Amino acid sequence: MRYHRFGHNVLRHVNFFVQPGQKVGVVGRTGSGKSSLVMALERLVESHHGKIVLDGMDLNSTGLHDLRRGICVIPQEPVIFSYTVRENLDPYHEHTDEEIWYALNQVKLDTIIEALPKKLDDYIPMRGQTYSVGQRQLFCIARAIVRKPYILVLDEASASVDLYTDRVIQGIIKKCFPRTTVLAIAHRLETIMDYDLIMVMENGWLKEYDRPLTLLKNEKSMFHNLVHQHEAEQYNKLLTIAQKADEERQEKQKSSPVRRRSASSMDQMFKPVEEHELGKEESR
Ligand SMILES: Nc1ncnc2c1ncn2[C@@H]1O[C@H](COP(=O)(O)OP(=O)(O)OP(=O)(O)O)[C@@H](O)[C@H]1O
Ligand SMILES: [Mg+2]
Repeated sequence: MRYHRFGHNVLRHVNFFVQPGQKVGVVGRTGSGKSSLVMALERLVESHHGKIVLDGMDLNSTGLHDLRRGICVIPQEPVIFSYTVRENLDPYHEHTDEEIWYALNQVKLDTIIEALPKKLDDYIPMRGQTYSVGQRQLFCIARAIVRKPYILVLDEASASVDLYTDRVIQGIIKKCFPRTTVLAIAHRLETIMDYDLIMVMENGWLKEYDRPLTLLKNEKSMFHNLVHQHEAEQYNKLLTIAQKADEERQEKQKSSPVRRRSASSMDQMFKPVEEHELGKEESR
């Protein structure tokens, strides 16, 4: 994928497979292509090579309207419109009041909206600037709960909020989107350590794609080094979270009639591109 016809490829060799409902954390240095991945997924920028298949459907042959309804992206800066509460949460008037109140209750904003004179029909002034950034982000998550997307993408959604609100947001994501496929570009590594998989991007490449525990334990992995560069003192804490999540996942798999992919089939989910293949790809 590239932003300009003659520009350089900002995404290359990005080959991966996500099972429905899996939670995937995306990490990488600034400019490594994390947000570009989201752009490609939403087809805000069309890929000139390769393809993205969602639920068996090639993204390029999916109508943009359907595609964008199925994917919900929560960016770093919460987006609130100067409309009513209801229009913000349900812009196409497709959902019942109960569904909207349920979503507000899940993000704990129901009491604030209850107190407004016109409740759901109250007008939100100044694009929600009267609310804190954390409240605005919770509002955006309520919008996603109402919409029930197939894929939920968080692009550093909690980067502007404090750790407490970040944990609240993560708790809501886990509780309200158990079957939704989640792609979270992480600001704090702690929040994705219990995810199913982690992607490490570098310079537009998907360099690593594996379980958090596997990457964390592998001293040669980029992820291991990333943790040591930025959050070295947190290593043991992150390891504990990843270990606990792995144990819980294994327990769940044992009791689940539908068996998920085993660790040994990870290589089918991610085919890293070798350096010597770069020339071939680049010339395309
Ligand atoms: N609108 C744009 N036009 C041209 N190039 C862009 C555009 N947006 C991003 N890029 C380039 O694409 C590459 C990947 O950027 P991207 O924003 O995807 O990185 P990122 O991993 O999300 O970084 P960050 O952690 O800073 O958000 C960078 O080289 C960047 O300069
Ligand atoms: Mg980004």
